[in-house]
Amino acid sequence: MAEWHIGVIGGSGLYEPGDLQDAQEIQVNSAFGEPSGPIATGRIGGVKFSFIARHGAGHRLSPSDVNYRANVDALKRCGVTDLMAVSAIGSLREDIAPGEFVVVDQIIDRTLVRERSFFDKGIVAHVPLADPVCPRLSKMAGKACGKAGTRVHQGGTYVAIEGPQFSTRAESLMYREWGGDVIGMTAMPEARLAREAELPYVLIGMVTDYDCWRDKGDVDVAAILKVMAGNADKARSMLTHFGAGLPKQRKASPIDTILDTAIITPKDNWD
Ligand code: ADE
Repeated sequence: MAEWHIGVIGGSGLYEPGDLQDAQEIQVNSAFGEPSGPIATGRIGGVKFSFIARHGAGHRLSPSDVNYRANVDALKRCGVTDLMAVSAIGSLREDIAPGEFVVVDQIIDRTLVRERSFFDKGIVAHVPLADPVCPRLSKMAGKACGKAGTRVHQGGTYVAIEGPQFSTRAESLMYREWGGDVIGMTAMPEARLAREAELPYVLIGMVTDYDCWRDKGDVDVAAILKVMAGNADKARSMLTHFGAGLPKQRKASPIDTILDTAIITPKDNWD
């Protein structure tokens, strides 16, 4: 058993983690290029946290421009044991309303132009991804969302689109037919890379809008920004409750050693 160290990737609206004690800002280099920005490390409820803003300071990086590999690699180099993504999402279901949170449990990947693997240099690995999020973290995150005073949906299928444009109405209706519950632009390849980095991953979606399947008009960015401001306060409160609610010691997860059985290339052929 070991100490927890939670890496947090803050999405649109969540640019700093709030209640971070003994905070320090560090620049971490990655072999995969530039991360989105510095990493803020510190403690919440006595637990180590390291935070990075996915879209960078001042929200300069579009979902297609985020260096997902560098962000995950930089957090891994900081020593994080688990990864929590907090992201703005649209809803594809009447029952999932703006202002509510969804602890996602499945992902449909419709992204097109992103580096999606760390294994591109003569080492072939096929990590399993049937369940792309960690059930243990998801359960604890759901409880923390409830304590933060938000309605929370435990489970839901996230459709990851390339963006940066929102979907057409035909696409939005099709995603509903496919079984999508929520929609966003960043869960992939982040979840894939977390698995390859042997980091259990949890994804908390903060609902900002109903996408375009429901009402006649377009998704309204001004309305999204308004909901986002309220969501961010709830997300910071959720992080505080999450830190306070973690068991004292971290038990090993099967994801910690997933590469042991995923790398196909024999060790003597590694470059
Ligand atoms: N992020 C927030 N709302 C979204 C939507 N409707 N589509 C894609 N990403 C989103």
